[in-house]
Amino acid sequence: MSAGQRAGQANPGHVAIIMDGNGRWAQMRGLPRQEGHRRGLEALRGAVRNAGELGVKILTLYSFSTENWRRPATEVSFLLGLLKRFVEKDLGQLHAAGVRVRVIGGRDDLAADIRRLVEHAETVTRDNTRMTLVVAFNYGSRDEIVRAARQLATDAAAGRIDAAAIDEAMLASRLDTADLPDPELVIRTSGETRISNFLLWQAAYAEFVFTPVLWPDFDRAAFEEALAEYGRRERRFGGLSEPVDRAAGAA
Ligand code: IPE
Ligand code: IPE
Ligand code: MG
Repeated sequence: MSAGQRAGQANPGHVAIIMDGNGRWAQMRGLPRQEGHRRGLEALRGAVRNAGELGVKILTLYSFSTENWRRPATEVSFLLGLLKRFVEKDLGQLHAAGVRVRVIGGRDDLAADIRRLVEHAETVTRDNTRMTLVVAFNYGSRDEIVRAARQLATDAAAGRIDAAAIDEAMLASRLDTADLPDPELVIRTSGETRISNFLLWQAAYAEFVFTPVLWPDFDRAAFEEALAEYGRRERRFGGLSEPVDRAAGAA
């Protein structure tokens, strides 16, 4: 534990980030929004590197939501192009660094070239163990839960499972994140304090850190500050804090 993290929370193993504020970053400088997204991609690369160096084993990045399709077609295609080029250009380097890439989000309605790229990135890196980079793309938590529910209903109707046996673990096993532990920390940049359909199920007990820093400016210091803030939190999971527990036990 680093100095300054007095309150007992070790660094989180899984950090999820809502990377927000690219547009405002550009607007403040009189630049087109696209420039903000370009700089946002640089920040994404930095975040992966910093996460690895700071001992974060799983980093989940919200890159494109199911609602982001509502943006103007020019912005949507720019964002898709940027992400495609990122995977094409950086995959080799990520693989060499021992990063396993996972992509969460709906796949069925994606363009064939993007789907192939996603599958390729996952296949190439699937045995890497140094760190896991989870890219949330065409991701929406409600869509994810609906897809899981549909699978369970189909299996129940076909007699493969007993509907009465559906529990939290079984539903979780049908989510895109089935093989991943829940995030301990969710960070959102740009000062917005909402969840925007991100990891609704998985973040049930996550700590949230909201920072005013715009995503392109989210550097090592900002990452460390968010981890330090997490370190100062007390997580109770519905129970009582430890000294109270002990007092109750002694009574
Ligand atoms: C985050 O930046 C990137 C995506 C949502 C894809 P925004 O594009 O949302 O930036 P703002 O919120 O308009 O500043
Ligand atoms: C959330 O940011 C989605 C991503 C960061 C990919 P948005 O900018 O789309 O969220 P809202 O519209 O402000 O809630
Ligand atoms: Mg935004």
